[in-house]
Amino acid sequence: MRELEKLLDHYNYMYYVESVSEVSDFEFDTLLRELQELEAKYPDQADNNSPTKRVGSDITTAFNTVEHRFAMQSLANTYSSEELGEWIDRTVGEVGEVEFVCELKFDGTAISLTYENGALLRAVTRGDGRRGDDVTNNVRTIGSVPLRLRGEGYPPLFEIRGEIIMPYASFERLNREREAAGDTLLANPRNAASGTLKLQSSQEVARRGLDCTLYQLAGEGLPYTSHWQNLEAARSWGFKISEHRRICRSKAQVEEFIAYWDDARKELPYATDGVVIKVNSYAHQRTLGSTAKAPRWAVAYKFQAEKALTELLSIDFQVGRTGAITPVANLSPVHLAGTVVKRASLHNAEQIALLDIRIGDQVYVEKGGEIIPKITGVELSERPADSKPFEYITHCPECGSKLVRYEGEAKHYCPNASGCPPQIIGRIVHFVGRKAMDIEGLGGETIELLWQNDMLKDISDIYHLDPIALASLPRLGERSAANILEGIRRSKDIAFERVLFALGIRFVGETTAKYLASHFLSLDAIASASREELTEAEEVGEKIADAIVEYFADEKNRTIIERLRSAGLKFEAEQKVQTSNILAGKNIVISGKFEGRSRDDMKALVEEHGGRNLAAVSANVDFIVAGENMGPAKLQKAEKLGIRILNEAEFMDMLAGEAKSSDMTDTAQSEQVATHTEQTPIQGRLF
Ligand code: IVH
Repeated sequence: MRELEKLLDHYNYMYYVESVSEVSDFEFDTLLRELQELEAKYPDQADNNSPTKRVGSDITTAFNTVEHRFAMQSLANTYSSEELGEWIDRTVGEVGEVEFVCELKFDGTAISLTYENGALLRAVTRGDGRRGDDVTNNVRTIGSVPLRLRGEGYPPLFEIRGEIIMPYASFERLNREREAAGDTLLANPRNAASGTLKLQSSQEVARRGLDCTLYQLAGEGLPYTSHWQNLEAARSWGFKISEHRRICRSKAQVEEFIAYWDDARKELPYATDGVVIKVNSYAHQRTLGSTAKAPRWAVAYKFQAEKALTELLSIDFQVGRTGAITPVANLSPVHLAGTVVKRASLHNAEQIALLDIRIGDQVYVEKGGEIIPKITGVELSERPADSKPFEYITHCPECGSKLVRYEGEAKHYCPNASGCPPQIIGRIVHFVGRKAMDIEGLGGETIELLWQNDMLKDISDIYHLDPIALASLPRLGERSAANILEGIRRSKDIAFERVLFALGIRFVGETTAKYLASHFLSLDAIASASREELTEAEEVGEKIADAIVEYFADEKNRTIIERLRSAGLKFEAEQKVQTSNILAGKNIVISGKFEGRSRDDMKALVEEHGGRNLAAVSANVDFIVAGENMGPAKLQKAEKLGIRILNEAEFMDMLAGEAKSSDMTDTAQSEQVATHTEQTPIQGRLF
């Protein structure tokens, strides 16, 4: 097993870091499978950092919050070469002759990797700089992150920091897939990278094609006293360290580096948004120190986003499935960052008013790494003499209803949810989508056709389509009709959580639907839950709770739901096996990592024994089962509220019906766990 691990690690490194394929995919997969089989056979011999862990798993991982050993600071930014010049002068003034290291500023999401004795121990996001999320399982799937180091001379414990990026190729592939599935597109590679890193399924993370480039070391016992040398050492240990950096000894050299990359970066396969200039010597860095937020020994020079000036011809208004109105600018076609731009987003009425954008204006269009360019300003000197301020629409361009604005929302909404065509069609398109009811053959065009022929007014009509009328529609024919009907029939087996997502309740996305389904177990329970009860489900805040209450308060929605129910859709979660009732009425928080089981297994156990899983520590919680590294914030809160904390073994004893605890033995406590109800005052609790 050790031999296979070593070999696979080597091929991985060559492929992802050196871009050299030493073996065919087939050979690699064969070796990997062999290792997987051995690991299945001898699980106690399986290594946490085995190359098999790179494929990820679909076990959902809640992320633990972890404190950074060294704070993850941000960088002072500038867009002006003058300011940069001043920073250089000041730095030289303070420490004398200085070497600067110029690097690219990668546009992704920051990560801190900890290595212990040459093995990846932890990967943590920046978070608020002091503590971040432990995303190790997801980061393990990134091919260019070494799970074990090569070479020698690395300290026994150190951190290396860098950026998780999504190369353009992965980003574009992902968006093509999303477009085909009718999902919303990801705005830019940066959002895509940070979103991917926080996915629950590491298998999906592995599939998305992230990359990781490293640019900063921290820890005791680093082999050298300068940034450059340590980066070189890190490269020899197997890390992907960008070659695009240079030691500069003068302002002119720094400027040269910037000028070169301002243009050359357009050829790079990933996004960059500037250059980072760092003082090379650690001794100099120490002399310069830090401000509260950022080191004084480094600065980021940001590139100007690519800009073009063109005429604003007109403004269209799109109505989304939730009724949200989005203004879209029609432009006189203009070349920008390699594409011809004809349309740009304008966000909302406020933005138009703020920039005083008028039809006929020459406007600045920018593409700051976003796929949809945006208008960022007006060239007032070219404004036509007869131009008038733009008047935002007051009524829906599609159905004529008077638009409304909700508190705290910048957008206008068309409130006519049940009568406004793009909203109706949008909801149906969402309902049949791949991640929802997944009804094949029923795409946007067919839905529009059905709607125009009065065969589809809301989602429930899907289950009452007349097969003969369907087959006789133009462009459809018997085969497609049969296909659609088969897809509709099969959709009745779709799990409750997806049905819930498919309903298209405002703010109830895929994940929220999952949490709601596992918390309430049935649609009726959700429909009759109060606002407070709704917020007890994981990730459900007041905004979402309000939207749910509002949805079920609407008579029309209730009618739709009854029709869907009679069509046979799943309105209940699959019955979980009920082993005992020992935890009946108990609210339990499972937190941290466990020895024998995954956190999900632990949660499943709670349900099997009649208990309820809660995510957050509150006065409602009866007890907490804490594994390793339970978040310190949770622990503190639990202690403050006097909530009892059990370890894994104690919990297992309890399930075995013994209801006694080992090192916390105290009969009164055990009894309390068994009989305590929600009404018990907090002070009444022991501990
Ligand atoms: S050094 C204390 N180097 O930019 C200095 N950061 O705006 C730590 N970034 O949070 C950062 N490329 O996520 C450094 N070559 C580079 C970088 C870089 C991108 C990011 C990093 C940081 C942010 C600050």
